[in-house]
Amino acid sequence: MTWVWVVLGLLVLGGLLYWQLGIAEGTYLGPRVVAWLYDLVAPVYDRIKGFDQEMEQWYLGLPLALALDSIPIPLVLDVGCGTGRLARALFFQPRFRGHIVGVDLSRRMLACALQETRPWADRVAFIRRDARSLPFPDNTFDAVASLEMLEFTPDPRAVVREMVRVLRPGGILVVTNRIGTEARLMPGRTFSTAQFVAFLETLPLERIHVQPWQVYYDLVWARKTGHPIGGGVRPLEEILRCPECGQVGLVRMDQVCQCPSCGCRWLVQHGILEMEK
Ligand SMILES: C[S@@+](CC[C@H](N)C(=O)[O-])C[C@H]1O[C@@H](n2cnc3c(N)ncnc32)[C@H](O)[C@@H]1O
Repeated sequence: MTWVWVVLGLLVLGGLLYWQLGIAEGTYLGPRVVAWLYDLVAPVYDRIKGFDQEMEQWYLGLPLALALDSIPIPLVLDVGCGTGRLARALFFQPRFRGHIVGVDLSRRMLACALQETRPWADRVAFIRRDARSLPFPDNTFDAVASLEMLEFTPDPRAVVREMVRVLRPGGILVVTNRIGTEARLMPGRTFSTAQFVAFLETLPLERIHVQPWQVYYDLVWARKTGHPIGGGVRPLEEILRCPECGQVGLVRMDQVCQCPSCGCRWLVQHGILEMEK
């Protein structure tokens, strides 16, 4: 009978591994495990996802470019930018003349993003940093987006609050919330549509609008309330906030960004600003 227990044990272990790594993608094991998994899949990520450029343009690039149309050179933040999907969708829109900052925790996803956005290299910057603490001051960006990332963070509500903090009043928030069968296997990381909207309503947001996205997601659009201030493109070092002391505005010297207040140094490695210790 021992073999029965061995088989049962292996089945349970296999199920647990599939749940933790296959479905939840490491989210219950911490951000470092999530980033490590994305480092592994980065070279084949776009192929696995099978992005359809036409759909990306129609549902993402065009509506976001239209929403930002009144701003001559908008500044957009993409949180959990992965291989640069949002940047590509926006840069292909002729009416979009803005700049994009991408933040992600996976070095290899960022390396792919850098490669994929080469034609627009002067309008895009990538930073390796955990989304839970964004290295920017309040009211900085004209739009903040985060696609298919929230469920992989330990505290999705805190990450949304952080995104709203760096979004300027009048700016646009675009964020996905995972729904469907697999979402139920990720308790504490996902919300029902009603729960997510109710949570967003507690934040300084208005015009909250939900639309379907990629079968397993809601795509939620909202606008930050308040009199418009902030936003617009500025040199990256001017909008960086030192994660150690909170000083706004770092000094760029060749391949280093240094905090003039506490002296902390953040390296630019292979074109990516490393702000994670
Ligand atoms: C499913 S991918 C989505 C990538 C991209 N937004 C897209 O739609 O193709 C999730 C991304 O979130 C990133 N990520 C996960 N947890 C993160 C965290 N705590 N901070 C920053 N990025 C994170 C992963 O490294 C990965 O690139």
